[in-house]
Amino acid sequence: MKKLGILVSGRGSNMVAIADACEQGDLSASVELVISNNKDSLALVSAQEKNIKTAHIGSSNYPDPDALDMAMTDALNKHHIDLVLLAGYMKKIGPKVLSSYRGRIINIHPSLLPKFGGKGMFGINVHRAVLAAGEKESGVTIHLVDGEYDQGAILAQQTVSIAPNETSESLAAKVLKVEHVLFAETIQKIVDGSIILPSD
Ligand code: GRF
Repeated sequence: MKKLGILVSGRGSNMVAIADACEQGDLSASVELVISNNKDSLALVSAQEKNIKTAHIGSSNYPDPDALDMAMTDALNKHHIDLVLLAGYMKKIGPKVLSSYRGRIINIHPSLLPKFGGKGMFGINVHRAVLAAGEKESGVTIHLVDGEYDQGAILAQQTVSIAPNETSESLAAKVLKVEHVLFAETIQKIVDGSIILPSD
């Protein structure tokens, strides 16, 4: 059974979707650890309600970036994590975590990368930019993490249509619904070998 470590910063709805998929048997994996840089993140509360181990590892309790990087690596190693999922995690991954888990760190982004990705492209900003650009469709991208924001090999994408009267809020809601399904489906494909990761 693949052990998942999930990094979160805020609401954590994608983490909940993954945990639910595991509980319902749709994803042959287990969420062993949820780490947040934000001690007040709702995701930590949701994880604790699901009896999932949590850790707060952020600049507030690890001001030195190297110490933070080491603490995160140690926490993931201690729980024998196989795959690291970034689910709304707003910080860059440190070099130690990157090297220890190279090819096994997966992020979800609410646009069709490489469009509308990169620094500052998060949350409602993404959907505002998509609409401002007059795009006819948006979507979800799941990709490997290689140290730069929203780069790395794309593992899965799914498009979402944009209605004539679409608002950034309505688009965000449509995209999030797809995220919750596509993330678990894609991780399941990694687990069952349909998607081969470079570290395999
Ligand atoms: C999602 O839109 C995800 O694509 C992006 O950040 C958001 C996190 O939402 N990386 P949640 O915290 O999983 O609800």
